[in-house]
Amino acid sequence: MIKIAPSILAADFANLERDIQKVRTADYLHVDVMDGLFVPNISIGLPVVESIRKVTDMTLDVHLMIDRPVRYVERFCQAGADIVTVHVEADSEENTGKALDIIRAQGKRCGVVLKPKTPAEAVLPFLEKCGMVLVMTVEPGFGGQKFMEDMMPKLRQLREWINAKNPACELEVDGGIDPVTCRTVIENGANVLVAGSSVYKAENIPARIMELRG
Ligand code: DX5
Ligand code: ZN
Repeated sequence: MIKIAPSILAADFANLERDIQKVRTADYLHVDVMDGLFVPNISIGLPVVESIRKVTDMTLDVHLMIDRPVRYVERFCQAGADIVTVHVEADSEENTGKALDIIRAQGKRCGVVLKPKTPAEAVLPFLEKCGMVLVMTVEPGFGGQKFMEDMMPKLRQLREWINAKNPACELEVDGGIDPVTCRTVIENGANVLVAGSSVYKAENIPARIMELRG
């Protein structure tokens, strides 16, 4: 089954509870954390994750776009994240492995994220312990960007490795997913689709979520 993870980056932060309720027919709630260093933008952090946890039972999929996430992963788990993903570009291989171990020790699902220029091979040291691999289909930092179709070979390669080495692992895509591009990523092996603007700009949000399932 294809899962949809609406990104609250496209929500109205002054009405966040209302905007979370609007997407409750989706599977995961995608929370983009940006530190202004790893990416050239600043979004939300720990206190907001804590507050969101109090108003929804949805699975919180926390995408950390921060430098050296090993410093903060335990606190994001304690704040109420269910899934925490870290960028492989954000620290050494050793520290990325440590971050994943900390998330698992908290009883949460861990995953790694690849920026567009990062090759598929970068997940291999971590694949066995991951519950999620996230392939960016835009440069991380902003919503509303154009989908990068040239990420599809990487997505297919990752689907092959996941099926062979860790079939329980989910394969997520993030960036520029709409009712057209959703079909492309599903064909190429993704099973979790993050969508910000295309969900929140829709007239009928539940219908759009259904449409994105392909
Ligand atoms: C970008 C974020 C995305 C973003 C996607 O850095 O990781 O989750 O919200 O937004 P759309 O769906 O508008 O491309
Ligand atoms: Zn994201």
